[in-house]
Amino acid sequence: MLKIVVCVSGGGTNLQAIMDAIDNGKITDTEILAVISNNAGAGALERARNRGIQAICMSPRSYSDREAFDQAFTDRISELAPDLVVLAGFLVKIPPQMVRAFSNRIVNIHPSLIPSFCGVGYYGLKVHEKVLERGVKVTGATVHFVNDGMDEGPIIAQKPVMIEENDTPEILQRRVMEQAEWILLPQAIDDIANGRLEIRDNHVYRL
Ligand code: GAR
Repeated sequence: MLKIVVCVSGGGTNLQAIMDAIDNGKITDTEILAVISNNAGAGALERARNRGIQAICMSPRSYSDREAFDQAFTDRISELAPDLVVLAGFLVKIPPQMVRAFSNRIVNIHPSLIPSFCGVGYYGLKVHEKVLERGVKVTGATVHFVNDGMDEGPIIAQKPVMIEENDTPEILQRRVMEQAEWILLPQAIDDIANGRLEIRDNHVYRL
């Protein structure tokens, strides 16, 4: 059984997709130990509570400085002892000591085709604003393992999504979620739970 902790900052539609996939058997052999958010008002915490999953809030603002938060956050996750940490719209930089402690055991969903439209300043709706500003014709989503770079870890899977006329950032965000994110992230978790992935030389191979 793969024990996971899901970290979220906002509404939690990706968390919902994971919970639904566990219910309908698209993800097998997986249990959510807890959901953690940096934001007490996150809809995701409500979604977790409604399902009887432990919902934890840890905000950097409640700590004297960033180092204190980083250590407390890493300690809290370590106490939960998950096999995998899933960043499902988590907009806080993962502390370096946590990346080391959970090497190749943290995955992230990003709403673009990495290495385009990623890195510092590219998160949530901002990604889709920049995509439309640039006028690209195809965007998408990427699920990847987390290393100490920003959106630079080994890529597990990607899915393209076409830009359409009259797209706004909000419309495009929704389409990228529906056509890519809510499919890719549950699939990647199921692949990991069933031992189908191997990482070698910063590449992910399907066994
Ligand atoms: C998702 O689009 C996710 O890809 C993005 O935040 C959104 C969260 O939505 N993540 C990032 O931008 C990470 N750099 P959700 O709370 O409804 O799942």
